Amino acid sequence: MDHRITVNDLETPALLVDLDSMEGNLLRMAAFLSHKSIKLRPHFKGHQVIAFASKQIQAGAIGITCARLQHAEALTSSGIKNVLIANEVAGEKAIQRLVELSVRNGVIVAVDNATVVSDMARVAGNRRDQLNVVADVDVGLGRCGVPPGEAALLLAKTVVGTGLRFRGLMAHRGNLRLPYGPEKHQLVCSAMQALIDSRELIECAGIPVEIVSSGGTSDWLIVEQFPEVTEIQAGSYLLMDSWYVPFAQDFRPCLTVLATVISKSSERIVVDAGVKAISAQKGLPSVKGTAGLKVKALHAEHAIIDVVDSEVRIEVGNKIEMWVSHLDATLSLQSRMYGIRRGEVVEVFQIER
Ligand SMILES: Cc1ncc(COP(=O)(O)O)c(C=O)c1O
Repeated sequence: MDHRITVNDLETPALLVDLDSMEGNLLRMAAFLSHKSIKLRPHFKGHQVIAFASKQIQAGAIGITCARLQHAEALTSSGIKNVLIANEVAGEKAIQRLVELSVRNGVIVAVDNATVVSDMARVAGNRRDQLNVVADVDVGLGRCGVPPGEAALLLAKTVVGTGLRFRGLMAHRGNLRLPYGPEKHQLVCSAMQALIDSRELIECAGIPVEIVSSGGTSDWLIVEQFPEVTEIQAGSYLLMDSWYVPFAQDFRPCLTVLATVISKSSERIVVDAGVKAISAQKGLPSVKGTAGLKVKALHAEHAIIDVVDSEVRIEVGNKIEMWVSHLDATLSLQSRMYGIRRGEVVEVFQIER
């Protein structure tokens, strides 16, 4: 940037990322994994910024995981390799796009359905061996995926039988938002055991399993202890949100929404950022840097904030920052992120839709 812009110069509401904290998270995860055989293929949904994906690769990630076809397209067209779509793709048009992308860039996609597998093979035609596939195994999340064991084996055989390239397995046990402790340990271990048993079953049937991909920010410390798991898909670790912190205390939250005080009365202030700028899906945000201001409610375009400490000095026109409490939903409300270092805007990042 050619001229100095401070946080205070920004129009509001604006999504800010603290770059020092982000880099701390990036390097902490990279250092944890640097002497391990397990790799990191971080989930793009945790930031949706191409420049951050590149930083993750530079820090040692083997590729990027994503959930949407358009994210895989954006990543590959920016030169990022080894993209895993850790999600199901279905429907003729989407499969056509997927096939084109796979042939061009070798992306890997998750499947959990024999009909989709044969649709993929039909659309790919004589290029079907260029379509890389992992079988999605449901190890307890109750979302996509086939049950572990025989169903996973059957799916692997179907993939091989149709001539697509079977690469391995993936599984996500992501709803376990528990602090690390015996209960979480037991649940994650039994999920991983089901995944590993499926791997063994498939390999015993003569089908090589090259990739076993699993583990998010809240459970990777347990997942990485399984040598049969080849890679972790953690994504939220990079930017975090205030809701996630108790479940993954090694990483610091980096995102705030900057807002301007537009109204004030004796007991409250109102700022210009409501649910159209910051998600309240996982609880109300808190105000950065002071316990004297407490968010009471979010309306569409307003946050109503109680002044709970009379010592707090704040006037109309002043700016405050609110911690993002739900990263994913807030990203979908914003189109850019301002990179901040010591109060200055040093970079502006586009958020991929
Ligand atoms: C399939 C899959 N893998 C990995 C992740 C990343 O998990 P986390 O955000 O906890 O790092 C998610 C997040 O929802 C996911 O759906």
